[in-house]
This record gives sequence, C-alpha cells and structure tokens, in this order.
Amino acid sequence: METASTTVITTENLTRTFGVNVAVNALTVTIQAGEVFGFLGHNGAGKTTTVRLLNGVIAPTAGAARIFGLDPTTHGHRIRARTGVLTETPALDNRMTARDTLRYFAEVYGVPVGERTRRIDELLGVFELGNRAGSKVGGFSKGMRQRLALARTLIHDPDIIFLDEPTSGLDPVAIREVHHLIEQLSHRGRTVFLCTHNLAEAERLCDRVAVLAQGRVLAIGATQELGRQLNRGHRVSVEINADDLARALHLFTQTPRVSLAEPAADRAMTRNGSVLIVLHGVGRADVPHLVRAAVEQGLDLYRIQPEAPTLEDVYFALQEL
Ligand SMILES: Nc1ncnc2c1ncn2[C@@H]1O[C@H](COP(=O)(O)OP(=O)(O)OP(=O)(O)O)[C@@H](O)[C@H]1O
Ligand SMILES: [Mg+2]
Repeated sequence: METASTTVITTENLTRTFGVNVAVNALTVTIQAGEVFGFLGHNGAGKTTTVRLLNGVIAPTAGAARIFGLDPTTHGHRIRARTGVLTETPALDNRMTARDTLRYFAEVYGVPVGERTRRIDELLGVFELGNRAGSKVGGFSKGMRQRLALARTLIHDPDIIFLDEPTSGLDPVAIREVHHLIEQLSHRGRTVFLCTHNLAEAERLCDRVAVLAQGRVLAIGATQELGRQLNRGHRVSVEINADDLARALHLFTQTPRVSLAEPAADRAMTRNGSVLIVLHGVGRADVPHLVRAAVEQGLDLYRIQPEAPTLEDVYFALQEL
C-alpha cells in the first residue's frame, strides 16, 4: 500500500530509438503515488512511446525505468497487473456487448468472481453506458466507445492509470466527467499519467507536467511553477472604451517594458461597448506606471489586471527556446 510520498514511477535516462529516430531521449523523471502527472508535447514528441516503455510493451534502447520498483523489461506482466492503460485508439471487439467487453477484461485481469458484476455495473453507471450495456459495441458512437475503453481501463482498479488522450472525441459533458473521474482517482491515492494536447485540461488537472519536444523534456515541474521558472508570458489585460482602441494600442506600444499591445485573443467586446486589450511583457509590478501613462493621455480605464502565465503561454514559450 503506497502512501502519498511513495515513488511509483522512476526513470533514468530512459531512451528509445527507432532506427535513427530518437523517440524518447534520456528521460529522467520521478512520479509519486497519487500524483496527476501531465505529459505534454506536439505530435511525435514521444508520449505514447514513453507509456509503452513504462508498461514493458517495448524495451528501451538505453537507460532504465522502475514501476513499483520493478523493471518493465523483465516484469512487464506484474506491472501491467497493477496499471491500466487507455491507449490512443483503443481496440474494441465490435461483436461484443459493452457488458461482455467489461466481463471479458474483468476475467483477463483476474477481478475476483464475486466482485465482477458489482464492479461492471458500477463502471457502466459511471460512464453512463448502463442503458446500452446489452448493445453491441459496433453500433456505438465514438464517444461511447471511448467511455467503454475508459471503463475497461479501470476494471481491475489499477494503482497507476495511463491515459493517452482520454478526452479526445468526447462531448463537453463527457469531458467534464472524465476530468472529475481523474480528480477522484487522485483523491483515492491512484496515480494518473496523463498524455494530452489539451493544455487547459493539463492545467486544471495536473499536479506536475513535463513538456516534451522530439523526445526530450524541455521543462518539468509543478503546473503553476513552470511559468515562474520561465519568467515569461506575463501579461496585463486592460479594459478600455472600444472607441479608444487604436489610441490605446499606440500609447501602450510606446510605454516602457510593454513588448506588445494587442486586442484580447477572443476580441472580447465586453458590456457597455468597452474592449479588452492585452499588454505583453509586463506584470503586476508594472501596473502603476501603466495606469499613470493611461491617465496622462486621458484614456478611460475600466479595469486593469495582471494575468499569471497560463500553461499555454509556457508551452509555446518553451517550444520557441
Ligand atoms: N513502432 C514504431 N516504429 C517506428 N517509429 C516509431 C514507432 N513508434 C513511435 N515511433 C516514432 O517515435 C516518435 C514518437 O512517437 P510517439 O507515438 O511516442 O509520439 P506522441 O508524442 O505520442 O505523438 P502523438 O501526439 O501524435 O500521439 C515519432 O517520431 C514516431 O514516428
Ligand atoms: Mg501519442
């Protein structure tokens, strides 16, 4: 039984090449039980390869990993008995019903016979598949298939859950439910290794994230800490009269330390015909001189607010380094 400070995953210079292509390049990471760990990176960054390495599906070219203290290369079977892996494109047997799919996996994973029905009903309920339990999977929508695959991943109540793009193809309601589920798993001491392209999802759910590019970790740390580490992406948003937009952009562009002034990305026209602009390169400490500059020029300010860098800011800043 792990406690909150138990290391469940550790890798040292974990490396995997395919020919000349280095898919995972000297990955060194330690993950504690109960963490929601985000693994972020563009297509081809090495996320899925890492999940396969950690579960002993493929062997590393160099370096090593330990899961529950076991080497996946030699103890993959024992590791997989305690991990659940939702793959990117889960293969489901279209001829089986949802209930049979779960029953089959309960058997494969050795869920005790007396617990199977309760466990299956519980998961069918959690993933709102109860009323389709007897339907063949072949007739399921993409989102229903994804939810069934998630249920299957959790059938043996694994200690570590690897989720490779778990919310892809889900509707907003289902996405929210998966997020809630991930939070619950973490509260129950389960470890979640979440590969995602969705930066808002990672920001909301993950305790720590690693940002990968071409197999290498660009940065790793607590989700809120990364922005500070990087010391980039600071912004201040300012609400002004829409009529003053051109004048305000001109003024702020010339204000010391402002690297860029632009209308907010969503072109947020707010109530009362005001508009939001974003000043880049400045933070909370700059607010007083921004206010003075605006007042001196007779600009009406309705709101001025420093914005902490989002994970999205950090992500893009890292890719540019
Ligand atoms: N079996 C394989 N044979 C050859 N090359 C592979 C194999 N598996 C992965 N690769 C290569 O390794 C690199 C990393 O791939 P991987 O699937 O891990 O990326 P990813 O981060 O999961 O990307 P995505 O976001 O698109 O899922 C890619 O360049 C890919 O082409
Ligand atoms: Mg992938």
